[in-house]
Amino acid sequence: MSRPRISINLALSADGKISSVSGRASGWTSKDDFARLKELRLSADALLVGRGTLEADRMTMKSPRNPLRCVVSRKGHFDPTHPLFSSEGGPIHLLGTEHPPTAIPSTTAHHGSLPDFIQTLSRDHEVRHIHCEGGGQLIHELAGLDLLDEIHLTWAGHHLFGGQSAPGPTGLPGNFLPASRHFKLTRFEPREDLGECFLSYRRSTES
Ligand SMILES: NC(=O)c1ccc[n+]([C@@H]2O[C@H](COP(=O)([O-])OP(=O)(O)OC[C@H]3O[C@@H](n4cnc5c(N)ncnc54)[C@H](OP(=O)(O)O)[C@@H]3O)[C@@H](O)[C@H]2O)c1
Repeated sequence: MSRPRISINLALSADGKISSVSGRASGWTSKDDFARLKELRLSADALLVGRGTLEADRMTMKSPRNPLRCVVSRKGHFDPTHPLFSSEGGPIHLLGTEHPPTAIPSTTAHHGSLPDFIQTLSRDHEVRHIHCEGGGQLIHELAGLDLLDEIHLTWAGHHLFGGQSAPGPTGLPGNFLPASRHFKLTRFEPREDLGECFLSYRRSTES
């Protein structure tokens, strides 16, 4: 069985950070970036985020086609009062990798590894495309497993975050991947009016 295609979308500051500090809400880019975020969700069968991003950005993970809404945690502690659990949208799947997730009505709980979860989504829920919106820790794991197929970035030149605790697209500085990953640029759209540039990359077999 082939695995689902996995894409990611992130906004990066001029110095390549996704946040000033892990846990602080995003929302520092443009309306056009937000429109692109919504457009990129349209082809997904499942949206995927880490619990840190769900909390920081108070996400409800909605999209018109109602893709599955999947959240990953190690500890499995989810806040049942989080807006995700009272919002309309696709079925919610919670993964706890080290501990089973909190039992929350109308959610499906999974306990196991991230690769097994991805296979379960594919086998039992016909998921062919997973779209991940961060954060850095989760993307670090996906990149470490070499599961990334497409990368979408908004490079936001109007912000510089800096700082040792500012995470980048694959987590905190110094948390290196086991090897380089290779991608080909497929879209380059500078937007001078916004001080931003929209970029897309596709997995490349070239080294
Ligand atoms: N600029 C952007 O486009 C963008 C996008 C997304 C997020 N952000 C920002 O980035 C920050 C969050 O980044 P982050 O790296 O801390 O977030 P993250 O990966 O979303 O969250 C970290 C938490 O998610 C769970 N997790 C992550 N990877 C996991 C794995 N491989 N297996 C099991 N559980 C895993 C763990 O939850 P438990 O603690 O429950 O075990 C972990 O503590 C926030 O400030 C957010 O606003 C920015």
